[in-house]
Amino acid sequence: MSKKVFISFGIVIVFLAVIVPFLVFDSNGAADSNGQEVPAGLKTGQELFEINCGTCHTLYAAGTDGNYGPDLDELLAPTGPPEGPKAASTIKGTKGRVLNAIEHGIDSELPGRMPAGILNSVQAHEVAEFVATVAGRG
Ligand code: HEC
Repeated sequence: MSKKVFISFGIVIVFLAVIVPFLVFDSNGAADSNGQEVPAGLKTGQELFEINCGTCHTLYAAGTDGNYGPDLDELLAPTGPPEGPKAASTIKGTKGRVLNAIEHGIDSELPGRMPAGILNSVQAHEVAEFVATVAGRG
């Protein structure tokens, strides 16, 4: 084996042994920081959303781009000034709508619609609070 081939081979080995695991590790590490940075109280809701809802729904703050169901940033964007925090009453109203969708689904007896009961009630509240607070922001 010529010296050049030997060195190239060495570089490939180093790549496989060091760089690949590093890249894999790095992407795992980044898995839960796909979305926007959110207040601590919304983190559980964000994670639950990524896992349970993100395959079907786009939501910027969760870093998801599902397109089976509606884009929740568009659907749930608040009316009024586009910047700044939402009014508490807006969040409350949107939360009720999201909770209703999670608990009852939307025409969930029909195929291809939003399924009911994906989450237990504690989780449903966490996700609804998260979605209601962030949708349409970002
Ligand atoms: C299997 C795909 C799928 C999953 C998973 C899913 N949804 Fe949906 N969702 C839909 C579809 C489709 C619609 C549109 C309504 C319809 O046609 O059933 C919808 C509608 C909605 C709506 C709008 C309801 C309204 O008032 O107009 C909200 C809010 C919603 N989903 C939130 C969620 C949340 C939160 C989760 C996770 C707990 C979730 N969805 C998981 C498919 C899904």
